[in-house]
Amino acid sequence: MTALDSSYRFPVRVLHWAMALLILAMIATGFAMVQEELPQSVRNTLFIFHKNTGILAFSLVLLRLILRLVFTPPPLPDTVSPVQQKAAAASHALLYVLMFAMPVLGYIRVKAGGFPIESLDAWGVPVIVPRSDDLANTAKFAHFVGAIAISAVVALHLSAAIFHALVLKDGVFARMWFGKSRA
Ligand code: HEM
Repeated sequence: MTALDSSYRFPVRVLHWAMALLILAMIATGFAMVQEELPQSVRNTLFIFHKNTGILAFSLVLLRLILRLVFTPPPLPDTVSPVQQKAAAASHALLYVLMFAMPVLGYIRVKAGGFPIESLDAWGVPVIVPRSDDLANTAKFAHFVGAIAISAVVALHLSAAIFHALVLKDGVFARMWFGKSRA
């Protein structure tokens, strides 16, 4: 197997790291902006960032799902046991579900609640959910549960990546990184 065969394709790697930054920013701003001790002007700025960057994240998730279907991921090395391979596949599937669901739930929470999403509103994108406080509150609760879940799965994913990169040094991290040591 060549170095290229054992790595993710270049566009997949670029998108992976762009999404990683965006998701971490979404989690940080999400938890920060609901803190009532923060000045209102700071919270408002964080809300605007969170809502509009979330829309960007959703577009990239769709692109990522397409690339995931087009490019089959490279096989893991034999040093990763079948049980670990199944656990990795399950956590990746859960990450995809959450990366898709979180922006959708955020959108429903905001639009059913009658609030703006500045970028979509400026582009004249029609609102596709009814105005309903019940729906907004249900989406708000689901978005909160999803926030806890995605934080936990991202922490697990990050710990596993660091363990492979610094302790096992088995090339698993290098598959998603840039440079020569991808073999
Ligand atoms: C990957 C995408 C997203 C992630 C990881 C994410 C994460 C979070 C987190 C961690 C929180 C704080 C937990 C809470 O108190 O609910 C939060 C809150 C919130 N998010 Fe998101 N979010 C995402 C996308 C979006 C989008 C696209 C929107 C709207 C367009 C949105 C709107 C909101 C709102 C309004 C809140 C405050 C909850 C409330 O009090 O109503 N989120 N988000």
